Amino acid sequence: MKESGKGDGIPEWIGNTPFPPGKKRVCRITRDMYVGFLYGFETAQVENQVFVSTDMIFMAEWTLPPGSHYEPPGYHLHGDECYYLLEGEATGFNPETGETFTFGKGDAMIIPQCTRHQIFNMTDKRIVAIACVAPAIWADDGMGTIIPRVEAPRFYKGRDKLSGGLAVPPYRLPELKRNIDSIGIWPAPGPELRKAKQLVIVRPRDQLALIHGVERHVLFSFVVSSDFMHLGVLTAPVASVSEFETHEGDEVINVLEGELCVRISSFKEERSDDATYPHYKLLEGNKMFIPAGVTHQYMNFINNPVKAYIAVAPRL
Ligand SMILES: [Fe+2]
Repeated sequence: MKESGKGDGIPEWIGNTPFPPGKKRVCRITRDMYVGFLYGFETAQVENQVFVSTDMIFMAEWTLPPGSHYEPPGYHLHGDECYYLLEGEATGFNPETGETFTFGKGDAMIIPQCTRHQIFNMTDKRIVAIACVAPAIWADDGMGTIIPRVEAPRFYKGRDKLSGGLAVPPYRLPELKRNIDSIGIWPAPGPELRKAKQLVIVRPRDQLALIHGVERHVLFSFVVSSDFMHLGVLTAPVASVSEFETHEGDEVINVLEGELCVRISSFKEERSDDATYPHYKLLEGNKMFIPAGVTHQYMNFINNPVKAYIAVAPRL
């Protein structure tokens, strides 16, 4: 089965999870559909559970136990990555520039294409995070795309051996409007971040919060909105029903708090009985896949606001 035309050395699930191109359909993603893989040397591994890997978007949940880190530093030739922390506190490191950041639950780290990154867990609690990579995690011609070694990672106390260090000028995030004009360039234009090899931490206060809908209102707060991916946190208040929307990219939903109902409009067309429409009810931690072009709507029927992490790539 060579559905996506991949060469040798690439696992079959890449680009085909949960469905190969041309065969995508709406589905709830259950645990038995996840694909597990370990990244890193045997003594410094991060455990990954991939729940989506299509031709448009890759998403996995990863776990790093207390006191560990992953080695070698990651590097994606074909896409940007974004980590969103579900549990714990992480120390993010760019070995080429030496820049180091700590961030916690609800925070995110943006990793531009070709930017080295590594996570250390300096705490006594595990880190669990969602990773999203788009448009592609690996090349079609090789799994790891040969990650070059970082000869002199810029750790503190390593300053005497830094002749090979990467000299990048300091980077300052642009001042952007907190409105729809910043969709596609939040928290900075993608090409700018890639050029600067700049890891960016996006805490909840740094998200681009927008009211979604003209007549019906929910909150959508973008962690990142770039030429490669759009992801953020949906807050559906009590008794809310969002307006229908359709994307050019694949969408993945992961419920963070509460229970989210997702209605797919094509169900409506299939039924002559207008009074009842099937929908998906997603509990905390549940995940769902909505392929590009499928119209959908979010609803909250519980006593509390519902929060869900939603990613769409490559285009909204
Ligand atoms: Fe959506």
